[in-house]
Amino acid sequence: MKIGIGSDHVGFELKPIIVEYLESLGHEVVDFGPNSTTRTDYPKYGEKVAHAVVSQEVEQGILICGTGVGISIAANKVAGIRAVVCSEPYSAKLSKEHNNTNILAFGSRVIGSELAKMIVFEWLNAEFEGGRHANRVNMIHDIEKENQE
Ligand code: RB5
Repeated sequence: MKIGIGSDHVGFELKPIIVEYLESLGHEVVDFGPNSTTRTDYPKYGEKVAHAVVSQEVEQGILICGTGVGISIAANKVAGIRAVVCSEPYSAKLSKEHNNTNILAFGSRVIGSELAKMIVFEWLNAEFEGGRHANRVNMIHDIEKENQE
C-alpha cells in the first residue's frame, strides 16, 4: 500500500521510525515533511497529507505531532478526510472498521515508538465493515456538504 506520512517538529524524530516500520511491512511511503527539527506548524503537514489522500496520490495517511490532536484537526478540515487520533490499538482498529478512517494520527509526547507501531499495525490491518456503518459515514459527509462555507 502507498502511505503518506507527515509530522511537525515535535513528531519529527518518531517519523523515520514509523517509516522504517511501514517499509518493513512492505508498504511504500511518501514523506510529506518536515525534513528537520526546525520549529514549524502542524497544520501545514496535516493539510499536505490530507490532500494526498483525497487526490489518491496515496491510499492512507499517518500524521505525528506532539499529541496528534492539532495535526488531526487540521487534516479533518479537508473534505473527504476522516482522521483519528489514537493512543491505543483498540480505537485505531475500530476507527477503520466502523468509521472508515483514512488518516491515523498520534502524539510523540504521548506514546512511545513500540506502542505507535502496534497502533499502526492494527489500523492498517483492519477493514471497513460497511453496512450500517456506511450509512453513518455517509451522514458525516452530508454534514460536511451542508456546512461548506
Ligand atoms: C507543538 O508545540 C505542539 O503544539 C504540537 O506538536 C501538537 O501537539 C499540537 O497539537
